[in-house]
Parts: sequence; C-alpha cells; structure tokens
Amino acid sequence: MIHRQEITELLKSPPIGEDVTVMGWVRAWRGNRFMVLNDGSGAETLQVVVNGEDFPEETIRAIGFHACVGVTGELIESQGAGQAVEVIAKEITIYGGTDLSEYPLQAKSQTMEFLRENAQFRMRTNTFSAVFRLRHALAYAINKYFHDRNFYYLHTPIITGNDAEGAGEMFRVTTLDPADPPRTEEGAVDYSQDFFGKSTHLTVSGQLQAEIGALAMGKVYTFGPTFRAENSHTSRHLSEFWMIEPEIAFADIDNDQDLAEDFLKYLINYCLDNYRADLEFLDARIKQAEKNMKAELRRPMGLIEMLEFTVKDDFARITYTEAINLIQRSKPYKKKKFEFPVEWGTDLQAEHERWLVEKHFKKPVIVRDYPKSFKAFYMRLNDDNETVAAMDILFPYIGEMVGGSQREEREDVLRTRMKEMDVHEDELAWYLQLRTFGGCPHAGFGLGFERMVMYVTGMSNIRDVIPFPRAPKTADF
Ligand code: 4AD
Ligand code: MG
Repeated sequence: MIHRQEITELLKSPPIGEDVTVMGWVRAWRGNRFMVLNDGSGAETLQVVVNGEDFPEETIRAIGFHACVGVTGELIESQGAGQAVEVIAKEITIYGGTDLSEYPLQAKSQTMEFLRENAQFRMRTNTFSAVFRLRHALAYAINKYFHDRNFYYLHTPIITGNDAEGAGEMFRVTTLDPADPPRTEEGAVDYSQDFFGKSTHLTVSGQLQAEIGALAMGKVYTFGPTFRAENSHTSRHLSEFWMIEPEIAFADIDNDQDLAEDFLKYLINYCLDNYRADLEFLDARIKQAEKNMKAELRRPMGLIEMLEFTVKDDFARITYTEAINLIQRSKPYKKKKFEFPVEWGTDLQAEHERWLVEKHFKKPVIVRDYPKSFKAFYMRLNDDNETVAAMDILFPYIGEMVGGSQREEREDVLRTRMKEMDVHEDELAWYLQLRTFGGCPHAGFGLGFERMVMYVTGMSNIRDVIPFPRAPKTADF
C-alpha cells in the first residue's frame, strides 16, 4: 500500500522535526538542489532540499520539470526566504521522469493555445490547476447554495425531442445510417424508424423539464451539460457548456432577479473565503501579464479587488428601453464607433453590453423587459404586449452571464406565442398541460457555468476554463 501526506494538509500545521512522505510533480528544480513539489491538493508547494551526495547520479538526473516523484525526509523550518518550511530528502522515488528533450512543455511560460493542444499536461501548470480547483469550488458552492435553501437537484435529460430555446441550434442524435437512411413516401428521412422512434437531439437547456419539477416540488435546479450547434468562434462560446438552471414556483421576474443576484454573490464570496491561495496566484499572474500591455488594455482593478467589489455593491437594474436610450446617448454611439445598429427592437450586441457594464455602470447590470420579437416563446408577455418579462445579467469582461425570465403561465397566451414563433404544439403538449392543470406564476434563469469560472479566475478565453473544450472544429481528447 502506498502512504503519502497531502501537501495542503501538511502545511496547515507543519509537524516540524518529523519525517514526512509527499508525492507529486516537480514545478521547479533549481541548482540541482532545490526541488519545488506540488501534489495538486492545493496551490501550495513544498520545497525539498536534495543533497546530491546522498543519492545516485541517475536519481538526480531524473528529477526535472513535471517529473513525478515521491520524497521522504525531515520537515524543518526553512533556512531560505520564500517558504516557511522545507523537507530534507532522505529517500527519493522517481515514479515518472520527463525527458526534457522530448517533453512538450517547458519550464518557461507557454502560450495558452499551445497548452490547449496539450491538454493532457496543462493541468500540471500552476495556472490550470488553480483554474480547475476553482471550477470545482464553484460547482460545490452551487450545490451547497441550493441545498441549504431547500432547492432540489433535478437531473434533466441530455437526449431530448424538444428544442427548449426554439433557436434550432441542436446536435442531432441518431443511429440511422447517414449514407442510406430510411425514407418516408415524401422522400424525407423517416425518423420513426430511428432509435427512439422519433427525431432527437442533445439538449440546449433543461429548463422545460425543470418547470415540471418546480410545479410539483416548489424549488428545483438543474446543473448539467448543454449543447449548442451555433457556429460561434468567440472567446465566450462553447459547443458543450454546463448550465445551472434554478426554477421556482410562486415567483415573478423580481423574485427571479433577487435570487440570481444573491446566488452570484454567494458563489464569489465562497471562492474568496475558501480558495484564497489560488485567487492570489491568478491575481499575480494577470498583473504580471499586464506589465507589457498598453494602459487602456489593462484591467482597472486586480482580480481579487474586482471580486470583492462585485459582491459589495448592488447590481444596477434597468429595462431594455432604458438601456437603448443610454447607448444612444453614449459617446461611441455618437462617434459611430459601434459596429452594429442600436434602435428599439434590435438585440443588444456584445459591444453594447460591454459599454453598459464596463464604461457606464462599471459593475454588473441586470437588463429586463426585452422586446418579445427576439426572445424565447416561453417568456411571460408583459401588459404592453410588446415586451416580455425576461432578464439578462451582464458582467464586466464576460457580457451575458445569466439569462432568465418569468414563464408564461397563461395557456391561451402561451399558445398564441408558440404559433407566432413557429414552435410545434404537438411536441410540447405536456408543457401546455402544466398550464391547464395546477399551474402558477413561476420563474427561473440559466447561469453559464464556464462564464462564471472565467469571471472568478480572470481567464480571458472560455476554452481555458473547461478541461476539454468543444467548439467548432475542436473535439480533441
Ligand atoms: O440565455 P440562455 O440561452 O438561456 C437559456 O438557455 C434558458 N433556458 C435559461 C433559463 O431561463 N433556465 O443561456 C443561459 C446562459 C447564458 O446567459 C450564458 O451565460 C450561457 O448560458 N451560455 C453559454 N455559455 C457558453 N457557451 C455558449 N455557447 C453559451 N450559450 C449560452
Ligand atoms: Mg440568453
């Protein structure tokens, strides 16, 4: 049996003078004497002092960047600066050496693109291990937040026959032979002969099924992978991303906004309180990277400062109409700096959202009551018959973090909206029945998990906050 102590646990109250056994990967190897070891249990590293004369030459030679080693030795107060304690090695086991002439990663910093292509190794870097620990922290905090407030975690299906967003951006799931599918008399592909006896896809959202849960169990949430076949090559879109979708009965759009704001602040606070070392590392990393940047490209605040600022202040709350008016009075609008037009009835583009959040309000903004023309069929029609009770939460650097709405609970209005938006009633008979029988006002929202991980870690590309990103023309690993 293998016995080891985890570095993070060891450093909580270091047993000075005792022998310890640690195992991990070498982060740095200086002067053939000082080995910096990290075992992934946290951001903390342990310095190991290796006296060359105590070990065979081949052992010393095998120690190198990202080699996997085990060390037993006495833990002492450190003689040097930079660390409180260190281990004087008595025994060294080389589990896996890295021949540095062949190993793809180098001790000097690599580009993010290169590390993405080498995702089998990128988690060994300080940056990516910090990012993925924070991803875990957020997942845990999400479940804890809802559990502590009597929400039930509902597992909604990944394969579905419904297009929840009605946007037609779905990946088909089929076992039919693409070269020779069965045909109907009209010559169309006959999906009644497919695996599920109907046309099926990967889900774009668990919301419609979450509504079933809310209208029986009061408060539920989903947290799972969702899939969008949109051809977006941006630093904020993935084809496979994780979404958190709470759904609550007896709630309107104001309850929805309050829940979302409280939830987002809780998640940030959780990381600030429990993952300080990782945040400090990422904060320093950004400051270092920004040293060579033009002043206008640098962030106005450090990472931790920005997170603390986000939880301290109320989010701004405005209507879509107010947003349009503000943008039309803005400097970039007047100077024709925006690429896309801004007038009542058009969707806000990323450039407009960023102006609102980063330049005007300088904090998260909740925009509500969007025109019905470009929002989903299930959103509740407002009394003006023109707008729906929808809300988007916009964040600095990220843009849309959350999209949510109060749901249309009036069956006749919902039927009309579905007709207008060309959503087929026969596919959603069960959804309409939730209105016919025992319905009530209800609301919910979707948080894009990776966008939240981006905000908390300060990473600028969404492909660097999910272990194995899926994007157009990208499905490695
Ligand atoms: O605004 P969306 O499309 O809303 C829904 O899917 C609703 N059913 C949610 C609900 O009310 N229950 O997506 C919600 C969030 C967005 O605000 C964004 O953060 C994220 O999901 N998102 C993406 N994240 C990464 N890559 C993509 N392609 C994304 N599309 C949406
Ligand atoms: Mg949206």
